Amino acid sequence: VDEDGTRVFQLTAQAGTTSFRDGVETETWGFNGDFLGPTLRARRGEQVAVEVTNTLGESTSVHWHGMHLPPEMDGGPHQEVEAGGTWRPTWLIDQPAATLWYHPHPHGRTEKHVYLGMSGMFILDDDEADTVGLPDEYGVDDIPVIVQDKSFTEDGQLTMESPVPSGVMGEALMVNGTIGAVQEVTTERVRLRLLNGSTLRSYNFGFDDDRSFQLVASDGGLLPAPHETNRVQLTPGERAEIVVEMEPGSETMLRSYPQQLGEIADPDGYGALDTLDVLRLEAADELAPSAVVAGELSDHERLDEADAATTRTFVMKGLALNGQRMDMNRIDEVVTVDTTEVWVVRNEDPMPHNFHIHDVQFEVLSVDGAPPPPELSGRKDTIYTEPGREYRLIMRFEHYANPEMPYMYHCHLLRHEDFGLMGQFVVV
Ligand code: C2O
Ligand code: CU
Repeated sequence: VDEDGTRVFQLTAQAGTTSFRDGVETETWGFNGDFLGPTLRARRGEQVAVEVTNTLGESTSVHWHGMHLPPEMDGGPHQEVEAGGTWRPTWLIDQPAATLWYHPHPHGRTEKHVYLGMSGMFILDDDEADTVGLPDEYGVDDIPVIVQDKSFTEDGQLTMESPVPSGVMGEALMVNGTIGAVQEVTTERVRLRLLNGSTLRSYNFGFDDDRSFQLVASDGGLLPAPHETNRVQLTPGERAEIVVEMEPGSETMLRSYPQQLGEIADPDGYGALDTLDVLRLEAADELAPSAVVAGELSDHERLDEADAATTRTFVMKGLALNGQRMDMNRIDEVVTVDTTEVWVVRNEDPMPHNFHIHDVQFEVLSVDGAPPPPELSGRKDTIYTEPGREYRLIMRFEHYANPEMPYMYHCHLLRHEDFGLMGQFVVV
């Protein structure tokens, strides 16, 4: 924290090598290290600044995924940091506690930069989330779980070559950069902050003993109430926080199970049928007591469709958005500041897409006309869009207006995004 109260972080984008398997050095990229980056953390009401230094041999950017902030601080393709350059965005944390993340967003090269290892978590805290009985000791009973799949060449290097044109379906599963990860549990309950940091693969998380757990938060923060379930599906870019109860001396394996991706042409190619080990939890013989999770988590007031000033429709078809591919020099939508809008999103391709909007957290009004299921009852910034279904989202564009600098919306399957399944909006 500097003299004027700003919480300052340093991130250096750098190239290095990582040993994922014994005796093999793999070339990787990361922030402040060889692979991935540090967890950044700040509290609602704080001013933050990040000093980004780029020591890679090419330009990159750092986008604060899920963050409400001015467009010129957003770290999208209009804020690339040149090779050897620096960038210092600063903004006020003005949104509820949540598990956000950061990753590069350079025009046409996001998949490569994220795949090589550039991402990290950005955790936000607030007073409300402090008082609902959630495990909150970072690294002890509050664990970041960045899930990624990678594909290796015979000589142990990361490869983006893949039989699926949509991107890489890796055979190696890693958590926070570790293949075959194990977490020791020393408390009765443990909170896992799950982030799908993969470029293409979706996960359907559950445990090998089919135990249930409490889903307590989605992308934008706490759900209205905990949802007891035995599965949670996350497509690339999405987050979920779950609370798992453990018996002393027991163990359980977090896995990804076969999943429903809808009417896609090639379920096999998109890993829908795969079962993968993700993270083994091993409980100590004695566990410290944990608080009980409250029955109500958040009383955030829901947005009302009657207040919506505008309804826009977005159709993903032929790997384009409303018939067009991304153009850095074209503004696709103009939004009026401090208004509420409904965005209707449809995927008309026979393949998976999801939909991510910068700056805002949206609420799901309906899926194909039906009210959203419990896992979609909270605030989100990224949503899976099954082929042929219609997703009605409501959101409010608050405070930051700049007619010169757009925010992005796009599919977060990163090869699709790079290919141009992305558009730009300004808030004026
Ligand atoms: Cu996580 Cu526009 O991205
Ligand atoms: Cu897509």
